[in-house]
Amino acid sequence: MPHPIKKIVCIGAGYVGGPTMAVFADRCPDIQVTVVDMNAARIAAWNSNSLPVYEPGLAEIVQRTRGRNLHFIGQAEGAKAAAEADAVFISVNTPTKTHGEGAGRASDLSYVESCARFIAQHAQGHTIVIEKSTMPVRAADTIKKILATGNSGTKFDVLSNPEFLAEGTAIRDLEKPDRVLIGGESTEAVRALADVYAHWVPRAAIITTGLWSAELSKLAANAFLAQRVSSINAISSICEVTEADVDEVAQVVGADSRVGPKFLKASIGFGGSCFKKDVYSLVYLCEHYRLPEAAAYWEQVLKMNEWQKQRITYKVIEQAKSGNGTVAVLGLAFKKNTNDFRESPAIDTCNQMLQAGLKLKLYDAKVYFAEFSKVLLPSANGSYTQAMSAVEAMQGVSAVFILTEWDEFKTIDWKAVAKVTQPKAGIFDGRAIIDVAAAKAAGFSVYSVGKAR
Ligand code: NAD
Ligand code: UDX
Repeated sequence: MPHPIKKIVCIGAGYVGGPTMAVFADRCPDIQVTVVDMNAARIAAWNSNSLPVYEPGLAEIVQRTRGRNLHFIGQAEGAKAAAEADAVFISVNTPTKTHGEGAGRASDLSYVESCARFIAQHAQGHTIVIEKSTMPVRAADTIKKILATGNSGTKFDVLSNPEFLAEGTAIRDLEKPDRVLIGGESTEAVRALADVYAHWVPRAAIITTGLWSAELSKLAANAFLAQRVSSINAISSICEVTEADVDEVAQVVGADSRVGPKFLKASIGFGGSCFKKDVYSLVYLCEHYRLPEAAAYWEQVLKMNEWQKQRITYKVIEQAKSGNGTVAVLGLAFKKNTNDFRESPAIDTCNQMLQAGLKLKLYDAKVYFAEFSKVLLPSANGSYTQAMSAVEAMQGVSAVFILTEWDEFKTIDWKAVAKVTQPKAGIFDGRAIIDVAAAKAAGFSVYSVGKAR
């Protein structure tokens, strides 16, 4: 029988584990929260003044909780913490498999499985094991089987508690979530976790479901969100050839209360560590359960996303080749207010331009350039450089390509920029954020996604 949760361990100190546990510690001063990671450098960074994750508001929370009831420790010390824990969250990466059955589609659960083995080995007494990572539906079966190999005298309940935070707004999303989802078979274990969230989340916003519904709901939620972006991006392409304006169309569509206004911003395509892998995971599950039509439906969301990136990048290549072949790339993060560039549209678009023989000047104030350069074509080394400001990136280029909607790009003085770029340079706004009239008045040809040129 689970008792009140007073000691929490979270395995995985990444974009989810770190911020989530920081908010838990902040909102639950009566609970000790310990975050464990096998990556020693990451743990050292969490214990330093230079946190490994940039999120507005995060540093302040870590500052007031670290050493009080929030602790970041390495794998070796993790064994003792797991033995004492009432609840252990698994918040490790679940990337797309790169080999074996389902490669390129199915989720790789090897990190999750190794956590389950660690818990089975070290836990004592009754422990609630909580899936915080995004899992394929029925993954809890695998976890339960591994936990069953634990020491005699141990007892486990497995819950699914997927995380819905979005990067860049993680702290706001954690402090004021639309909903918290807890799925499980043991009512007592579900209640024990709900009591933790109830420290700051209204009970009405805590949804409890069966285990399988909770696991599938997370994949479904991300698939629906990705589908909205692909839907508006499909509309953006027809706007461009018909002189309709995608922002106006989105406003009208979103004003219908059945649709709602959010997540209808046309773009260069969605990125981030979740959408692609989670939609692929859903596609794989549909295929696995012999539902090919459902699989094809969701896969089209991904195909649309690839096409959007490619078709816009072709326009930039065409423009740059008619000039000196040099492009300023503004923004490398997959969205604003994060330093994360996992699956960022910038990766594919930059590599497509490098493959076409262009020279790139890359600028992003938050992304670590040394890390980003590792995802660029090794053969293109020497064809790209880092710029320390947007203006520096735009010096002498024949095309400017905006890939992230950072606020600083919204207020660029195009009249001043026109003095430093090549004459007849083109601006390609992959986020539709700039003042097109002002840029045109400064002498630029302008492409803005979803608008006729
Ligand atoms: P991440 O890669 O940033 O962090 C995962 C961490 O787990 C890494 O630091 C890694 O070293 C550690 N790890 C892996 N295996 C380990 C093990 N056996 N023992 C100890 N540490 C281990 O990943 P993330 O972005 O935090 O995502 C984690 C999960 O949350 C994924 O399933 C993801 O789909 C899901 N999710 C992510 C987001 C997001 O915005 N990033 C949002 C919601 C859900
Ligand atoms: C997403 C989900 O929103 C979140 O609930 C889940 O927990 C993790 O995955 P995240 O990937 O951090 O969060 O960011 P999100 O804000 O969803 O944006 C994803 C991508 O879609 C970004 O590249 C963003 O620029 C793009 N996007 C989003 C659009 O192009 N248009 C939109 O209208 C919204």
